[in-house]
Amino acid sequence: MANILFMAGSARKQSLNKKLALLAANMAEAAGADVTLIDLKEYEMPLYNGDLEAEQGLPENAKKLKQVFIAHDGFFIASPEYNSSFSPLLKNTIDWMSRPHEENEIPLVAYKGKVAALGAISPGVLGGLRGLVSLRMLLGNIGVTVVPSQVAVGSGFQALDSEGNLKDERQAGMLKATVDELLRTTDRLR
Ligand SMILES: Cc1cc2nc3c(=O)[nH]c(=O)nc-3n(C[C@H](O)[C@H](O)[C@H](O)COP(=O)(O)O)c2cc1C
Repeated sequence: MANILFMAGSARKQSLNKKLALLAANMAEAAGADVTLIDLKEYEMPLYNGDLEAEQGLPENAKKLKQVFIAHDGFFIASPEYNSSFSPLLKNTIDWMSRPHEENEIPLVAYKGKVAALGAISPGVLGGLRGLVSLRMLLGNIGVTVVPSQVAVGSGFQALDSEGNLKDERQAGMLKATVDELLRTTDRLR
């Protein structure tokens, strides 16, 4: 079975998207996948700056996280929506890891050939759906196959029960379908 990395594009302790990533990881594990859940808070990086890169190279956390990505077949991102796009944390992390740091490194080695699935949860009615459009485009442009299924959960503060499960069966079904498609596609492309 595929090994899949799960994360949220939020560093916030009480992040709704961290809860969604955990739920997706549990579903994937129950389906037999090898699952790793990470918190981007543990991989803090400075804001990308070309001068900083020229002087110091990649931050240690970017190198570390790049290795984690390389070691996985696919990933699931639960992405917060900020002003109709994805979070600066996600963009900064993706940008740093897109930079080569070893001699003869394959371009975009952390991304090319990987499979991803996307989810979002927000207090708004659209559930962060608009942010997924730009995230899907970005990932496609760096060589990631993003599966067509995705889930966006609106009214996020009311959507989860005390155990972190989605109260609405239809939304839970959409998350499950997204995770299943991620696992199926990753297995096929491996
Ligand atoms: C700068 C900023 C912009 C935001 N813009 C949107 C938005 O466009 N759409 C939306 O649904 N929520 C928006 N929100 C609310 C976030 O969805 C909400 O804070 C959410 O809880 C963030 O995700 P997290 O809980 O995983 O940290 C915004 C929040 C911030 C801080």
